[in-house]
Amino acid sequence: MLLVCGIISALSYRNDISNDLISALERLEYRGYDSAGIAYLDNGNELKRIRTVGKVQQLKEAVEKANVKSHIGIGHTRWATHGKVTEFNAHPHVTDGVAVVHNGIIENYQDLRKRLISEGYTFESETDTEVIAKLVASHIKTGKTFLDAFKCAIAEFTGTFAIVAIYEKEPSLLLGAKRGSPMAVGISPDKQSAYIASDAVALSTLVDELVYLEEGDIVVVKKDAQLSYEIFDASGSCTNRQVVQNKVSLNDVTKNGYETFMLKEIFEEAAVARRTYERFNYDTEVAKYDNISIIACGTSYYAGVLSKYWIEEIAKVHVDVEIASEFRYRKPVMRKNSLYIFISQSGETIDTLCAMRLVKEAGMKTLALVNVDTSSIAREADYIVKIEAGVEVGVASTKAFVAQTLSLLIMCAGKSAVHIDDIEHSINSILNGNYDFAGLANKLKDSRCLFYIGRGTSYPIALEGALKIKELSYISAEGYPSGEIKHGPIAIIDENVYTIALAPFDQYFEKTVSNTQEILARNGKVLLITTEDARASLHGLDENANVECVFLPKCETLYYPFALTTTIHLLAYHTAKAKGYDVDKPRNLAKSVTVE
Ligand code: M6R
Repeated sequence: MLLVCGIISALSYRNDISNDLISALERLEYRGYDSAGIAYLDNGNELKRIRTVGKVQQLKEAVEKANVKSHIGIGHTRWATHGKVTEFNAHPHVTDGVAVVHNGIIENYQDLRKRLISEGYTFESETDTEVIAKLVASHIKTGKTFLDAFKCAIAEFTGTFAIVAIYEKEPSLLLGAKRGSPMAVGISPDKQSAYIASDAVALSTLVDELVYLEEGDIVVVKKDAQLSYEIFDASGSCTNRQVVQNKVSLNDVTKNGYETFMLKEIFEEAAVARRTYERFNYDTEVAKYDNISIIACGTSYYAGVLSKYWIEEIAKVHVDVEIASEFRYRKPVMRKNSLYIFISQSGETIDTLCAMRLVKEAGMKTLALVNVDTSSIAREADYIVKIEAGVEVGVASTKAFVAQTLSLLIMCAGKSAVHIDDIEHSINSILNGNYDFAGLANKLKDSRCLFYIGRGTSYPIALEGALKIKELSYISAEGYPSGEIKHGPIAIIDENVYTIALAPFDQYFEKTVSNTQEILARNGKVLLITTEDARASLHGLDENANVECVFLPKCETLYYPFALTTTIHLLAYHTAKAKGYDVDKPRNLAKSVTVE
């Protein structure tokens, strides 16, 4: 198993490509941040490599110290599972003048490794990537050119990957291959440098236009009288791919005065809702189907769970919501006249993508609800609904969840029935309100574990709240339907456990409040998140020494999930900060999961 890492590479007339490599790796760091490295040809075209364990900052310092002067190089930031986090396992991997970086997994690497060992190669790392460098080198040894050797090696790999390679004896050639993992190529506006990277974020500030490679493509970037690139498709034919604008701006990839990307992105939630609403012009007609199946992972899955409440109540269509990694490995029965909705911020999550392929093979209609419309899931779906979250850099998904849930609400209720002014106002009242989330977080941070509970549409928000707490604060947190707590989990409750109860003053309020009483009776602590209009119905609960209350402004019941979302995101943010953790780069995680 491996999560996506970040790739950047450059070929230039200039001699300072290390600056571009490092700045791109800084932007790519959200994709993996266990270790990083670059390989480059120095002025004498000798292959050099610098790798460091830890964040890109460490690599940057090492590169500055080495005073790198180079016109061609490749860089990588890694999220490890295949081999520990060590310098030996960090990319690039190098053999006989060939250097490679790689995202994804080479599934047959054990067989290839054995073969290469029998040919006399010795391995220094535990990674699958090292076989790539050695296999290309072994083909070069038989007399092949770098390009032919690269093509032969790629043809031998099974799995999903994006690979970039350079070779010291062919210093004007940069090669890339894409199968399963995203890859893009572009030339700088001044035509002085060309780049291959794993996403548009890496290329922002470097190119205005780019080309996304298709499945099985190999790209050859050359420096002759001018810089150029050629793309060969899976059958080996030279092909053209559509040139698109690089929509990622500097503003998207900088913190803009905020301390972290996550805080910046939470503070964008109201504007993202407005933009998603205004640009929404899809005719999705969910009501014409007998059944809707929603398939996704993580936060995107919780957006699906929330929409089930809305779609069934408003559009009166039956909805199933499934975790993609489970869906794809069971034998799902596909129902006629069903719409299958795949939700993914990145559009690259492999389990969601593979689940979608399974559904397509069965001849069903697929709709992708994505933030990245050039992503694999977007490209392969029958219909696309694009959310307008903008680039989300924080590993914890925040503003995308708002855009996903709002899009699903519009899809079932219709645009004219959704009052964006109210939603925007509701989110802004949390962002600009006088709430002491940092103070509350200080109380939550030492909890042995946490429960998030809610009923109705507050339940999926409880799930999302618990996920955010665990991924950022490393506190074991469970989202539970309020009514289910007494069917087992209540055994965990004692004075060291906090329960965050989401109970706006809706039809479920009384029931959730009575569930909090059961928790208080077992000495548990409660943070009750409710609304102003509930004050008179608390009957002294807010005076209990074990209860903290947050009163959100009253709004239409339908829109409470939006105010609650911003609230739970801010609580997760402050809890992680209170614990002193890096909220943008929580341990063990990466932004998108492109290999299962
Ligand atoms: O890009 P996707 O929406 O497909 O990603 C799904 C999950 O990996 C993602 O939501 C993950 O759970 C986040 N870290 C949650 O904050």
